Amino acid sequence: MTHSILKIEHLVKRFGGLAAVNHCNFEIAENSITALIGPNGAGKTTMFDLITGVLKHDSGEISFKGKPLGNLPTYQRSRLGMARTFQAIRIFPELTALENIMLAFPENRESFLDCFRPLKKWQIKLKHHAFELLEKIHLNEKAHTPAGSLSYGQQKLLEIMRAVATSSDLFLLDEPAAGVNRTMLHTIIALIKQLHADGKTVVIVEHDMGFIMELSQRVIVMDYGKEIAEGTPEEIQKNPKVFEAYLGIKT
Ligand SMILES: Nc1ncnc2c1ncn2[C@@H]1O[C@H](COP(=O)(O)OP(=O)(O)O)[C@@H](O)[C@H]1O
Ligand SMILES: [Mg+2]
Repeated sequence: MTHSILKIEHLVKRFGGLAAVNHCNFEIAENSITALIGPNGAGKTTMFDLITGVLKHDSGEISFKGKPLGNLPTYQRSRLGMARTFQAIRIFPELTALENIMLAFPENRESFLDCFRPLKKWQIKLKHHAFELLEKIHLNEKAHTPAGSLSYGQQKLLEIMRAVATSSDLFLLDEPAAGVNRTMLHTIIALIKQLHADGKTVVIVEHDMGFIMELSQRVIVMDYGKEIAEGTPEEIQKNPKVFEAYLGIKT
């Protein structure tokens, strides 16, 4: 494989007696778009929690940009250049759409409270940039609306754009297309294609096969906490193991 940005080795995470991630192994190539698929409960969200350090793994190792992450806390992993979105949206509902984006900028990392004081020159520049990003998701007219009053789809777009605003190298998107309308779906697809064109790496947990076929070069299939198949979307669609995992039948 070409240079890998993320490497998962023998990763294990147990919740009591349940191994949600069970000796899982895979690698993600730099500047690729990979779909991580699998039935409900397969361990996909837990995998994202482990990669980002939201949860601690029991054994195995995660390496990012060639370095083992060990037990590095979440904020330090994000500084290394990874960003994610959540299956259940996490934005600041009382802050405006614009403020949500501004808080995500790495420039505001050290002094995010400055956002609420009179703006300095560099911050005005950032504000313009935040408007540009909102325009890309057709939310510029909602810039001053509290994020919590946006529609579900708009909140999803905002959350994805917040991740984009961090200027990370690796983006982990947990079901970005779930429950959004077709227009928004196309906006999300365009955003992901732009990330790819900018040299970024994207891993998407998704169920919509059309979405996966359009966007991803690689598909990794998880079931019962481990990778059971990997290939191009075409190969995966033909793989009997995948049918079995999804439908619980042997073909
Ligand atoms: N915090 C938790 N405590 C206990 N069990 C959990 C927790 N989070 C996830 N699980 C269990 O781990 C398994 C994998 O869950 P999850 O990673 O959310 O799957 P997926 O995202 O693939 O649907 C499921 O059986 C789920 O019930
Ligand atoms: Mg999930």
